[in-house]
Amino acid sequence: MSKNIHSYGFYRLNIEIRFFIKTLLKIHSKTVRDTDHINEIYEKIRKEKLRNLDSFSTPNDYLSDLPSTSPDGQIRYSLLNNKLVSGKTNQVALMILEIIEDIMIKSSCEYVIELGSGGGKNLLWFASKYKNIKFIGLELNKTSVDLANAAAKKFNVQNVEFYQCDLTNTESYKKFLTKNTFVYSHHTLEEMPRIYKIPLNQIKESNVQVIALMEPIFMFSFSRLVLDIAKRLRILNKDRLIGLKKFSKRKLSQYFNIELLDLGLGVKAENPTTLLLLKRK
Ligand SMILES: C[S@@+](CC[C@H](N)C(=O)[O-])C[C@H]1O[C@@H](n2cnc3c(N)ncnc32)[C@H](O)[C@@H]1O
Repeated sequence: MSKNIHSYGFYRLNIEIRFFIKTLLKIHSKTVRDTDHINEIYEKIRKEKLRNLDSFSTPNDYLSDLPSTSPDGQIRYSLLNNKLVSGKTNQVALMILEIIEDIMIKSSCEYVIELGSGGGKNLLWFASKYKNIKFIGLELNKTSVDLANAAAKKFNVQNVEFYQCDLTNTESYKKFLTKNTFVYSHHTLEEMPRIYKIPLNQIKESNVQVIALMEPIFMFSFSRLVLDIAKRLRILNKDRLIGLKKFSKRKLSQYFNIELLDLGLGVKAENPTTLLLLKRK
């Protein structure tokens, strides 16, 4: 069945309300997004991609790995310029990456760090295009780091390094946070709802000048009314990111000029991406 943004909003709201009630009635346990939970989720996903690594032949097709249906066979709806679309997951993902690319180029950096680099698809895509920049991925899950290193080797991308580290262990990576380094995240802080302030405080203390956080920060728009209500409930149900907007205004705004941009883009329409851009004053 084809959907518009409002009917999809009601569909998602129904799912979230039922989930919420089941949690209240203790029919299933409350999701708590801690590092063990995160490791468990990504261990499975990245092991599968490692098994299938031979099916990718370039960083481009390694990047465009998002299926147009979800694991239960349902069509995956994305948000493109605030319109509901299907079958365009990879196109939307690429558009988001191109926004990061644009900021990266304008920052004239020599190094780039991705916080939570996953299987390395974003960094490998960048590194294969920008040979004169050195790229560094910091990632919690060891299998993801192994996958990223194996993919770098397979595609012969040499200007990228991946390190296993928990972003809350700032000692392990603060040496990388230099003046000529551009730092970004893409849907990583959302996996760290209570601990994301730790890496951000470390970056604040460093000399890094430009930081782009591509995260599903809640932004409300009347044009997406029901979908945005569902989105808010989803954050609660799934223990997702809360408070980054307030934290950046209260704690980072003395150090950085802050831009917050509702991009109207989301690989998953119910979890769209917002840009929080920090430029040192
Ligand atoms: C949604 S995935 C995004 C991966 C990658 N940024 C991308 O766009 O493909 C979030 C990633 O953040 C990583 N992550 C979550 N918590 C972390 C932590 N405390 N330290 C380092 N990485 C973490 C997860 O293991 C996962 O690979």
